[in-house]
Amino acid sequence: VSEPYHHYVFDKEHRRFVGDFEAMYRAESAGRFDSWHQSDPRRMDSLISAMLLEKVSYRTAVDLACGKGHFTAQLKRLDNHVVGVDISETAISVARSQFPDVEWVAASIDDYLDGCAPVDLMLVRQTLSYLEDWREVLAKISGLTRYLCVDLYIPDDTIGFVPSHAELLEELERHFEVIEAVLLQKRRISVYLCRSSH
Ligand SMILES: C[S@@+](CC[C@H](N)C(=O)[O-])C[C@H]1O[C@@H](n2cnc3c(N)ncnc32)[C@H](O)[C@@H]1O
Repeated sequence: VSEPYHHYVFDKEHRRFVGDFEAMYRAESAGRFDSWHQSDPRRMDSLISAMLLEKVSYRTAVDLACGKGHFTAQLKRLDNHVVGVDISETAISVARSQFPDVEWVAASIDDYLDGCAPVDLMLVRQTLSYLEDWREVLAKISGLTRYLCVDLYIPDDTIGFVPSHAELLEELERHFEVIEAVLLQKRRISVYLCRSSH
């Protein structure tokens, strides 16, 4: 199987969301896979996100749904505070053991946002498709951060909750000024850097 992590996320046959992320991360070492190639520094959307983030500065950053935290750790400087949040305890414990200078939190995005203080930068990369309440999540985020980096793969026949790139952009523009939008057309991935208009 070329993408052994997929069946933990979507049931392709019945076209429904499964979302068993904890089981997926637990299966990684035995199955010898890296879900979504998230630890590969050459991943094109990660390179684009990093490039867009060079345009802003941030003393505090929160990476929502950070997985095993390879991208999150790139945000860390000697003089800033970075938090990585993921629903999977296994992913968070892998991240914590590798990058102890980042604060790691095992929580759902909804729970984390309910209790968090405002920060300079939030990121939500390759995750909004798994959130049924993605529109409310973006609204909530806009009140809690100055900048937002979003990146999302949306195939034409998506099973995920975000129906299209056009609707994602429309929703972002409701709450943010979109500073940069990059479409990786062939990969069906869009990457955004936004400033909150709240
Ligand atoms: C495709 S991965 C993206 C990981 C990383 N942001 C990246 O771009 O490589 C999606 C991540 O979202 C996490 N996740 C899914 N639903 C979540 C939720 N409701 N709250 C927090 N994390 C969630 C999963 O555990 C998984 O690590």
